[in-house]
Amino acid sequence: MAIISDDKYFNNSDNDKKKSDTNKSPMVKAVSIEYDRTFENTIRPKNFDDYIGQTSLKETLKISIEAAKLRNSPMDHLLFYGPPGLGKTTLAGVIAEQMGVEMKITSAPSLERPRDIIGILMSLKGGEILFIDEIHRLNKIAEEILYPAMEDFSLDMTTGKSQTVKTLRIPLPKFTLIGATTKAGELSGPLRDRFGIIYRLQFYSTEELTQVIKRTAKILDIQITEEGAKSIAKRSRGTPRIANRLTKRVSDFALIKYNGIISGKVADSSLDVLKIDEYGLDTTDRALLNLIIEKYDGGPVGIETIAAALSEDVRTLEDICEPYLLQSGLLQRTPRGRKVSPEAYRYLGKKLDNLQQNLF
Ligand code: ADE
Repeated sequence: MAIISDDKYFNNSDNDKKKSDTNKSPMVKAVSIEYDRTFENTIRPKNFDDYIGQTSLKETLKISIEAAKLRNSPMDHLLFYGPPGLGKTTLAGVIAEQMGVEMKITSAPSLERPRDIIGILMSLKGGEILFIDEIHRLNKIAEEILYPAMEDFSLDMTTGKSQTVKTLRIPLPKFTLIGATTKAGELSGPLRDRFGIIYRLQFYSTEELTQVIKRTAKILDIQITEEGAKSIAKRSRGTPRIANRLTKRVSDFALIKYNGIISGKVADSSLDVLKIDEYGLDTTDRALLNLIIEKYDGGPVGIETIAAALSEDVRTLEDICEPYLLQSGLLQRTPRGRKVSPEAYRYLGKKLDNLQQNLF
């Protein structure tokens, strides 16, 4: 299976990221995004045996794939949603590999003009997979072009002006659309309804991440002990993308500062230097919790206010920081803004005063 990526997609995504990074170190950031992507692609599992975790989803997918093969037809359109880094793109690639078909990858922000989505739909061959990342960001026109494409495998084009307008129906080969989103709630109802299969990807357990890390260490050709893998796993926020990045960072420490083996001690001290604590929280996460406690009495406070105070953009906080803080119960979302939980006070070693105790 060859994965063909739409270059515009990567350029656009990078541009988005670069915009928010310009007041940091744009060159270093741009290089590291590129480097991370190459690294991620190298270690991406290609089949279900190598893909760790998401067990029940994997079982259901295997059945859908076998059934599609038996019927000699493409699989139903699929929607994967959940926080970033849980393996949505990877899973789509595994499906393409198992189906023995090509996958074209694009992202909603790069499908700005009608001809972008029309071009990519018309380039598909029978049975192929079209992967659209960040599908909640699709504009209305692109969505409307997609409806007949998904439902009837056809493109409805209009030609001529006012009285002479004609609708032309162009058949497309049958294909499977795999959409991925971190924000399923922002998808329009009609688009959501056109997916036959909708799945939420789950955070990974420490045991699952330990396996992911051992597999990655093997690919990186670095020795790792069970304790070393577990130490990294515990600090990876339930997310394989983070586990893989940390494994790479710790392997650098092991090679340069230690004896080349990632033991529990090597992992712990390297991650301490990287300021990633035993819950996997980094300096931004801790700054966010501290800010709400110190400046806003524990909250609630609006996300825009938090973002301005931390010099971060709202999307980074919502997409990267918050999912895990919410999942771990340190942060709560209320209609009036974000609020920390009593656990966050304990975690940061802070005392709740009497008034706050009554509020919780
Ligand atoms: N790398 C990223 N996601 C993975 C997964 N689910 N299994 C193994 N390696 C991975």
